[in-house]
Amino acid sequence: MASPRIGFVGAGRVARALAQGFARHGERVVAVASRSAESAERIAREVPGCAAMAAQEAVDACDLVFITVPDGAIAAAAAGLRWSAGKAAVHTSGATEAAALDAAARQGAATGGLHPMQNFADPAVALAGLPGCAAAIEAEGELLATLDRLARTLGMKPIRLPPGARALYHCSGSFAAPFVDVLLHEAVRIWGAFGVPAGEALPLLIALARGTLDAAAKDGTVQSFAGPVSRGDIGTIERHLAALAKLPPETLALYRALAARAIPLAEEKGSLSAEAAAKLRALVERG
Ligand SMILES: NC(=O)c1ccc[n+]([C@@H]2O[C@H](COP(=O)([O-])OP(=O)(O)OC[C@H]3O[C@@H](n4cnc5c(N)ncnc54)[C@H](OP(=O)(O)O)[C@@H]3O)[C@@H](O)[C@H]2O)c1
Repeated sequence: MASPRIGFVGAGRVARALAQGFARHGERVVAVASRSAESAERIAREVPGCAAMAAQEAVDACDLVFITVPDGAIAAAAAGLRWSAGKAAVHTSGATEAAALDAAARQGAATGGLHPMQNFADPAVALAGLPGCAAAIEAEGELLATLDRLARTLGMKPIRLPPGARALYHCSGSFAAPFVDVLLHEAVRIWGAFGVPAGEALPLLIALARGTLDAAAKDGTVQSFAGPVSRGDIGTIERHLAALAKLPPETLALYRALAARAIPLAEEKGSLSAEAAAKLRALVERG
């Protein structure tokens, strides 16, 4: 597939970002279909050369069709379409096996998965963030080479997953993405407890988070690890625990759990003596 005609079935966030990205890099994005005409037409308006049409027409018009519907709808969406040899059906789900597309495979289509490990809440932000992020690719032969090339076109780093690793791979992303949101949300709530509105607190806390990410990117998570646990500063952690005891108990429980996971990091960094680590463990695990 040197220059496949690319289509999308499911015109949501991922389809919008990938369609725009591929088209900007000269790929032929020619068709988009969705449950509602409005979603498909929005992508067709944004992407030169792309037309909104019915899902079967998109399959007929394309060599490579991304099935970008919610995970639970992938198998049924693929099974409801007619496929043939020479066509490829590819989903973009992180947690779904390529076997979800077996109905297309039985009709002769090549099948696979290309999961961009990025947050697509905002397609423009996602597109800007694709360079350097992982693209987990599952495919064989010519389709594997094509998906590999398409991922690299957007600056992503293709990776192959060993069999059975999908759920672990996908849940690791929770720690690097939605759980980061959860932690920022907790921090904003804490600022709320001393009277700072969320709109003021969030950018200031994001500046801190950015600095942390930049340091981790430069020196790794162990060497860049900072804060009272890394220093074995027991007095400060006692004050944190006492302050958090005045807030809803979930926040204190989360702090204790994270502090407990931070201790081995400090030990690995070499900034915490065995004695300080034991005292810290006893302090944060009490409760
Ligand atoms: N969001 C992320 O951050 C992210 C990241 C990586 C991978 N993914 C994966 O990418 C895939 C798409 O996710 P998304 O976030 O783009 O979802 P989304 O924004 O919810 O969009 C899904 C689109 O599919 C359409 N649709 C739903 N059922 C359909 C059907 N049966 N036939 C045709 N179209 C249908 C929807 O309908 P309308 O036409 O009504 O709009 C919607 O436009 C999922 O497998 C997801 O796991 C998501």
